[in-house]
Amino acid sequence: MARSLLSWLGGCLLMSALGMVPPPENVRMNSVNFKNILRWESPAFPKGNLTFTAQYQSYRKFQDTCTSILLTECDFSSLSKYGDHTLRVRAEFADESSEWINITFCPVDDTTIGPPRMQVEALANSLHVRFFAPRIENEPEPWTMRNIYNSWTYHVRYWKNGSDEKFSISGQYDFEFLRNLESQTTYCVQVRGFLSDRKKAGEWSEPVCEQTTIDVYEPPSSQYSSLILLPTV
Ligand SMILES: *[C@@H]1O[C@H](CO)[C@@H](O)[C@H](O)[C@H]1NC(C)=O
Ligand SMILES: *[C@@H]1O[C@H](CO)[C@@H](O)[C@H](O)[C@H]1NC(C)=O
Ligand SMILES: *[C@@H]1O[C@H](CO)[C@@H](O)[C@H](O)[C@H]1NC(C)=O
Repeated sequence: MARSLLSWLGGCLLMSALGMVPPPENVRMNSVNFKNILRWESPAFPKGNLTFTAQYQSYRKFQDTCTSILLTECDFSSLSKYGDHTLRVRAEFADESSEWINITFCPVDDTTIGPPRMQVEALANSLHVRFFAPRIENEPEPWTMRNIYNSWTYHVRYWKNGSDEKFSISGQYDFEFLRNLESQTTYCVQVRGFLSDRKKAGEWSEPVCEQTTIDVYEPPSSQYSSLILLPTV
């Protein structure tokens, strides 16, 4: 009897010491092209599955974006792109909840600029490259990252496949001509967005490699075309 009371008391003490719900761990915003996903990890909690509620502050009040979810992420893409937002998330179990973990997030400053897409058309001595700035989801119009940032610039780098020497150019238009290339040679091209006023670079696209065509102004003899590969520079 006394022992069971003791163990009951001990259980209660343990409950009040350890029964507090631990907060979510490693809370971070993963935002690319204004797709804002708040992510966290569930803390170890032996009693069962925790749920999570994530909120953002609107004026003085907090509003739920995700309520009592089992997932460990919450989509905040509908936040205004401008201004600092305070977001918070907590863990819950039954009637208990953890403390809030707060983060501040300013989409227009903090979002990562994803890689642009590219179309490459090969000619004999040049490549014509067309760029497509990353699209922004959750917009009624087909907006791209370029529409948001006035100082948007494309950084292009290209190289002869297999060579370590890379060439760079940049420009504000949605296309670029890479000139003075050798014919029948494979070149690889990468592009990224760059915000010159913020000195902020986006992610490089995967390289696209294209072979330049045969030079149609020269007779298509193999001997001759190996000759014109020599010092055209
Ligand atoms: C916890 O979640 C897992 C996977 O979602 C599920 O299989 C399990 O039944 C849940 N446990 C409880 C106690 O709800
Ligand atoms: C989050 O903010 C609230 C109120 O602003 C504060 O009481 C709480 O301690 C903060 N949580 C952490 C983990 O700093
Ligand atoms: C680039 O060169 C490597 C060898 O240097 C070769 O394996 C690869 O297929 C080439 N890529 C293209 C697209 O030609």
